[in-house]
Amino acid sequence: ALRRAANIHWQAIEITREAHAAQKGQAPRLLWFTGLSGSGKSTIANLVEKRLHALGKHSFMLDGDNIRHGLNRDLGFSDADRIENIRRVGEVARLMTDAGLIVLSAFISPFRAERDMVRRMMPEGEFLEIFVDTPLAVAEARDVKGLYARARAGEIRDFTGISSPYEPPLNPDVHIDTTRTTPEEAAELIVETLLGVWSWT
Ligand code: PPS
Repeated sequence: ALRRAANIHWQAIEITREAHAAQKGQAPRLLWFTGLSGSGKSTIANLVEKRLHALGKHSFMLDGDNIRHGLNRDLGFSDADRIENIRRVGEVARLMTDAGLIVLSAFISPFRAERDMVRRMMPEGEFLEIFVDTPLAVAEARDVKGLYARARAGEIRDFTGISSPYEPPLNPDVHIDTTRTTPEEAAELIVETLLGVWSWT
């Protein structure tokens, strides 16, 4: 019911998602990275994707900064816009997994409700939440893009962790403490978990 709109029929497509996945020889997954700005989401997701690519897997990465230049260029950082950002990304990710891909998404995705909404959009077991846990003080000290300084100076409104909330996952599938784990170690752990606990083929 979640995926039906009023007065619009669901068109049956004969080549199913199972057929797409079988042709690719891989089980679709959505690896959902969440964490503060500058926490290392994109860095770690990129390393994971490189490993998957080397294993011959067909993956695709959706990244907040990039998607906001195109599909979601009409959205800002109010709560409502962040919710819509994640809803659209969830729908796109779902379509890509329907096509048989391993999707990696790197968005702050600050609200539990929307992360859970995306989980519910996905077939059971295909959504994997990866918490890139970097304390605010550490992300702010790194300030790779200089955004925290600008947010503190009042030049950026609604900045996550400063003037907009971040709700950490309560029960993530993988929890990366970036103060104790290098990006390479984190990527290794994620791929191992993918191959092991998630019994991924
Ligand atoms: S969200 O909350 O999931 O909708 O955000 P996302 O689409 O991931 O976009 C986050 C990137 O946008 C830049 N940026 C901001 N982040 C947070 N708050 C505000 N106000 C803001 N303005 C711009 C920032 O570079 C984020 O990139 P990352 O990669 O997360 O550091």
